Amino acid sequence: KAISSLTIHESCSCFSSMASAMSMKASPVHPPKITTVKALVESTGSSSIPSFYNFTPYLRDEPIAGDAEDSVPIIDISLLVSGTPEQQSQIIHQLSKACSDWGCFMVINHDVTESLTKAMIASFQEFFDLPEEEKKEYQGNHVMDPIRCGTGFNPSMDKANYWRDFLKCFAHPEFHTPNKPAGFSEIALEFSKRNREVVTVLLKAISKSLGLEESYINKAANFELGLQLLAANYYPACPEPEKAIGIPAHYDHGLLTTLVNNGVSGLQVKHKEKWFNVNIPANVLFVQVADHLEILSNGKYKSISHRALVNNKATRMSIALAHGPALDTVMRPAPELVGNESDQPAYVEMTYREFLELQQTGRLSSKFRSDTEQSKAV
Ligand code: OGA
Ligand code: NI
Repeated sequence: KAISSLTIHESCSCFSSMASAMSMKASPVHPPKITTVKALVESTGSSSIPSFYNFTPYLRDEPIAGDAEDSVPIIDISLLVSGTPEQQSQIIHQLSKACSDWGCFMVINHDVTESLTKAMIASFQEFFDLPEEEKKEYQGNHVMDPIRCGTGFNPSMDKANYWRDFLKCFAHPEFHTPNKPAGFSEIALEFSKRNREVVTVLLKAISKSLGLEESYINKAANFELGLQLLAANYYPACPEPEKAIGIPAHYDHGLLTTLVNNGVSGLQVKHKEKWFNVNIPANVLFVQVADHLEILSNGKYKSISHRALVNNKATRMSIALAHGPALDTVMRPAPELVGNESDQPAYVEMTYREFLELQQTGRLSSKFRSDTEQSKAV
């Protein structure tokens, strides 16, 4: 049967700075000279926000169901590594439920220590504290630029400004970071490696949870050469948080995303058409299913829609790591998971690089998604 070219969905990922093209009424005029939200806040100190930060069709009219940590599955990764065979299969079963039911879960007892996470957050803070001119040096423009800092979501396409500054670095297969602040590079390398180790363990268990051999995803995605993107988001306290948004609803494009924050909440995930607040405890790695795990599993596991709200009390920082396939590996649904009538391949084949580039142009279709805000985004 022919595979429709419309079956790849649009995935507005902030990792590739693809705008969620909501119908925003705000004027696209950017403020003169201000390059980051941080600089804007520090230079005005006002009690209202410029109108180009108004996120007009604001989604807070949608019901907030509650706090996700009351129901999001918790995965004890130490049991996957050193538990009894019974414990391991129990965790694999929990992962299967987490990935198919929620598309996200909380990992505990991992090796990304609280002190390492704190050091990483502090180091990113120092980066954002650099003078604007120094940060400009790292202002990449293309999704394939290995170091990129900026503001908004996809500044070239955004119709409104988002209340968010960012720094993104390729951490694997080649490791790139700015050479300042001092110590940043060492901490970022250690932090990225340890996150990657967690994901390596998870991908084995997730392969098994799909009835595949444990190295299946690793091989299919050529994960040894996988692209790992280290991204820090900086959301200054916002005087009118109900008008602005940090990052609009989107899906991440890798296989899995691991995420931590500085103890200030703002992340929401969409589950069964409702938004849930995600408060991430300090010792937890929050893990999200991303597009390429959805593709590989032929839709059995779903990439999760999420967004970041802002608040008027404190600066929020989050660090998200996208763990993806190798750039030039063709990604497709696992043939083992495709076969009977109801299981035809639901996604077209393409390399991760092609996916990212197509996403930048806004030409990935969202045909098959039922998520409302994403369908509206076309
Ligand atoms: C992202 C993202 C959410 C957050 O960087 O892709 O969704 O909580 N971040 O900052
Ligand atoms: Ni995201």
